[in-house]
Amino acid sequence: MRLQGKVALVTGASSGIGAAVAQRFAAEGAHVCVNYRPASDRDRQAAESAVAAYPTPGIAFQADVTRREDVDAMVAATVKAFGRLDIAVANAGIEIKRPFLEATDDEWARVIGVNLFGGYATAQAAARQMVAQGGGGRIVFMSSVHEDIPFPGYTSYCASKGGIRMLMRNIAIELAPHGITANDIAPGAIATPINQSVLDDPESMRNAVSEIPLGRFGRPDEVASVAVFLASDEAAYVTGSTYYVDGGLTQQVTMY
Ligand code: BGC
Repeated sequence: MRLQGKVALVTGASSGIGAAVAQRFAAEGAHVCVNYRPASDRDRQAAESAVAAYPTPGIAFQADVTRREDVDAMVAATVKAFGRLDIAVANAGIEIKRPFLEATDDEWARVIGVNLFGGYATAQAAARQMVAQGGGGRIVFMSSVHEDIPFPGYTSYCASKGGIRMLMRNIAIELAPHGITANDIAPGAIATPINQSVLDDPESMRNAVSEIPLGRFGRPDEVASVAVFLASDEAAYVTGSTYYVDGGLTQQVTMY
């Protein structure tokens, strides 16, 4: 058990990569706060039934990561339940496909709000608690291969993920004296609800898979295993780094 006795918080953990990360953390012995977004009964039920099935006690907590007071309340609830916070995974994320020339301010604000402000607020609230309690900590951002490579039609998403990369690199330095590490995981095409329209369309799938050297989409648990490593004591000397989990997508070359 690599996270025995640790206390972790995972945002956006009612489905997809976040759910897999929370589940693996619990299986490795951590107490996990499973965050889900407001106004979704389906997410609440998914979070609550996931927690009920964990081998270690956890909590499901509703919070909108775009609201500072929700994020602070989520950290406070975790500490109230389990006494401390050792690991925060800022995973909650959305994407909106829209050509740049047609994108609206509202779409921009939503994507930047959840992905970038949400990551900032989660990391800051968690880091404040970690510094106050002492003993270091782990912050992991769920970024994307699109923190580095363009994704036409997804400008706000790419801007948010590029922002997360610099957020992570900066706080890795500022938090290092406190023994807190900060790293990014950059997943490529993973079979989760965010990709549902591609997964449901054979032609889109063929196109997407043709860009992936390993020839398939990844599974959420293949991202979760890297999150476990970054959250564990074994990653004590890893900070300021991005870990790609993308089947080679970012290494793709064009030959002609
Ligand atoms: C996006 C997916 C996309 C994948 C690879 C992810 O960050 O959320 O929509 O398929 O990157 O391009």
